[in-house]
Amino acid sequence: MAKHIHFKEVTSTNDVAFDFAQKGAEHLTCITADVQTKGRGRRGRVWSTVPSKSIAASFVIKGEQSNLLPFITSLATLETIQNFVPEAVIKWPNDILIHGKKASGILIEKHGHGGSCFYIIGIGINVLKFDKNFFDETIEATALEFYSQKEISIKSVLTSLQSSLQEWLKMPDVEVLNSYRKKCVTIGSYVTWIGDRNTLTGLAKSVTDSGSLILELDDGTTKEILSGDIVAQK
Ligand code: BTN
Repeated sequence: MAKHIHFKEVTSTNDVAFDFAQKGAEHLTCITADVQTKGRGRRGRVWSTVPSKSIAASFVIKGEQSNLLPFITSLATLETIQNFVPEAVIKWPNDILIHGKKASGILIEKHGHGGSCFYIIGIGINVLKFDKNFFDETIEATALEFYSQKEISIKSVLTSLQSSLQEWLKMPDVEVLNSYRKKCVTIGSYVTWIGDRNTLTGLAKSVTDSGSLILELDDGTTKEILSGDIVAQK
C-alpha cells in the first residue's frame, strides 16, 4: 500500500498533495485531513468537510492517465460507498448520490504535461452522521452512516477507497465505460444542464466514449455536454 499521511488541519488536501508531488512523492501517495479550512469543489465552489466525520483525501497520480480518469475515480468511489450503502449511484460526471443527496464529490487537478505530469485526485466523502445544521439548507448533502447497513468508520471507508482506486486505475477504458454507463443514474433521466452562461433541459440519452453527456432537447436536437452541472427534473 502506498504512503498515507494524515494531518489534523490543512487548507485543502489537494494543496498538500500538490506540495508532496512536487517534492517527488510516490504514485498513489494519499493525503488526508480531519479539517480543511479552504476545501475546494468543482467550478470554483467551496467544499465543506464536516470535521472528523468526513473523508477529505487527495491522491498523487503520476504520469499521463486516461481521459476517463474522472469516471475511474467515480467508479472507485462508488464501489467503496456501495460496500456500505448498496443503493448509492453516480450522477454525471462524478458525484455520488444516496437517495438523491450528495454523499461524495471529486475534484481532479492536472499539473504539467508529458512524462513529468501528475494529477491530484481529491475525494470528499461524508461518512459519519453530522448535525443537519452543518450545511446550508440549500445544500442537499447526506452521509453514508445515515443509510449504512453495517458498522462504518472513516478508517474502513478510506482503506476500501485506497484499494478500489488502485484497482480501477488498471482497468481498460472499455471496461470503465461499460461500468460507468451501468452505474450512472443520469442516463435516461430528464435533466437541466447548468453551464457558465446558459442552461439546457432535455433527456440525457448517453455518455460518449470521451465522457461527454448527450442531451436530447425538447425540439428533438441533440447537444453534447462536456462539463458543468446537471440537476434532475422531477
Ligand atoms: C465537488 O463536488 O465539487 C468536488 C468536491 C471535492 C472535495 C475534495 S475533499 C478532498 C479534496 N480537497 C479539496 O479541497 N477538495 C477535494
